[in-house]
Order: sequence, then C-alpha cells, then structure tokens
Amino acid sequence: MKILIINGPNINMLGIRDQAIYGTSTYADLEKMVSDFALENNIELDMLQSNYEGEIVTIIQDNYLKYDGYIINPAAYTHTSIAIYDALLAVSKPTIEVHISDVDNREDFRKVNFIRSACFKSITNLGINGYLEAIHAMILHLDKTNED
Ligand code: DQA
Repeated sequence: MKILIINGPNINMLGIRDQAIYGTSTYADLEKMVSDFALENNIELDMLQSNYEGEIVTIIQDNYLKYDGYIINPAAYTHTSIAIYDALLAVSKPTIEVHISDVDNREDFRKVNFIRSACFKSITNLGINGYLEAIHAMILHLDKTNED
C-alpha cells in the first residue's frame, strides 16, 4: 500500500507560524511522526510540500498511478483553488483532506472549501495528529476496497 501526503503553502512553517493555532511541532517533527507511523503499519508513505498551486496540481497529476491514496492539506488553497479540486476529480484517487486547525470555525473566508467534496473524508482540529488519523483511515479504506 502506497500513500502520498501533499501539503500546501506555509505547512513548511509549522513550529514557526502561529503556534496558538498550529502548535509547536515543526515540519521536520511532522515528517518523522508520519514516517515512523508508516513503518509501524508496514506501508509505503511519502510526503511532499509546495507553496505553488500549479505545482500541487502537477503533483496530483503525476503521481496518481504510483500511489493508492492521497492525503492532502491544501492549506490556504483549500479556500481558493478550483484547479486543485479539478485535479483531484481528474485522477479520482481515494483522498482524505486534513487540516491541523479547526478550519470550519475560524474566519468566514476559511468556511469556503473547494476541496472537501473531492475527498471521502475530512479530518480537522486534531493538530498534526490529524495526519495519523488520516493515514489510519486511509489504510482501513484501502483494505476494505481491496476486500470487495
Ligand atoms: C490549514 C487551514 C487553512 O485555512 C490555512 O490557510 C492553512 C492551514 C490547517 O491545516 O489548519 O495554512 O489548512
């Protein structure tokens, strides 16, 4: 089983950006946490980050044959990007959306979400542990799909 985690703009600034909202863990901490979890669960997992919308679209397009599922935190592009939404629809990979913060209960502009309806599950407000929840949910989903 191969899972790709795709992170959008400023996720590389974890630990530096607003710690009251995003916590004190760094991006390196997140990388270590997810790769340890992947090892324990015997799955292959890669994680990428980009600050560029078009690059995220290209990542989605270029990897759909290489991975069984995507986990995506599109960050601010969640609220603006029809291009990322269209790319997810185009590849129709099982996809889970993750947000570190309680994105649905912050500023009104964050309530606009172009990505959610391209995902079979949405995980919010669990800090970086949301990524572990997402990997776990993806494993269950892919195991079930393979059984059917
Ligand atoms: C975020 C929420 C977005 O609104 C914000 O722009 C981010 C991070 C989250 O993980 O909580 O950069 O996606």
